[in-house]
Amino acid sequence: MWTYEKKLQFPVKIKNPDPKSAQIIISQLGGPDGELGASMRYLHQRYSCPYDKVTGILTDVGTEELAHLEMVAAILYQLTRNLKESEIEGSPFATYFVDHTTGIYPVAASGVPFDMKYVGVKGDILTDLHEDLAAEQKARTTYDNLLRLIDDPDVREPIKFLRAREIVHYQRFADALRIAQDNLDSKNFYAFNPSFDRAGKNDRMNRSCRRPNCQGR
Ligand SMILES: [Fe+2]
Repeated sequence: MWTYEKKLQFPVKIKNPDPKSAQIIISQLGGPDGELGASMRYLHQRYSCPYDKVTGILTDVGTEELAHLEMVAAILYQLTRNLKESEIEGSPFATYFVDHTTGIYPVAASGVPFDMKYVGVKGDILTDLHEDLAAEQKARTTYDNLLRLIDDPDVREPIKFLRAREIVHYQRFADALRIAQDNLDSKNFYAFNPSFDRAGKNDRMNRSCRRPNCQGR
């Protein structure tokens, strides 16, 4: 279960509305490398992870991504509240406004709504962690791109914080990959678990039950 704390992980205090910036930042809400996809990815991958420490990392990072989702939503809300119609007309935000007014709805900067296709869950922790490492780099690059396009320090500071956290997440998944590889049945150059490779039609798929004290999570 989760408990909710009524504060943001990093303060968001934006004074000036800016629909143009909102139109691009929204990709980190509902885009292919956004925070909604990140939280869904890690919080679902953890069930099939056979190593408790790695499951803990997936839970920690997935939970933090929910806090980042909240921060991005706060940025979008503050950038679009109190907008005048004249500020919306002719701005790239106008097409979003037609469909959602100034409600917060997860779409990519291109306008494509959030899609679970962005969320990779393969059920093999080595495969999943490689996905996660790439996902963190893609999220960091997206924040880099946003910082190239945004000047307002009120908007840049929380985005810089979010970018820095993607780097920390990358490091945590690198630690997780090392833990998973150290648990392989035999060391090998290719990153797969030989016991998975031997699985036949009648082998049990519930690998997590091999763990001592498995609580079923
Ligand atoms: Fe992240």
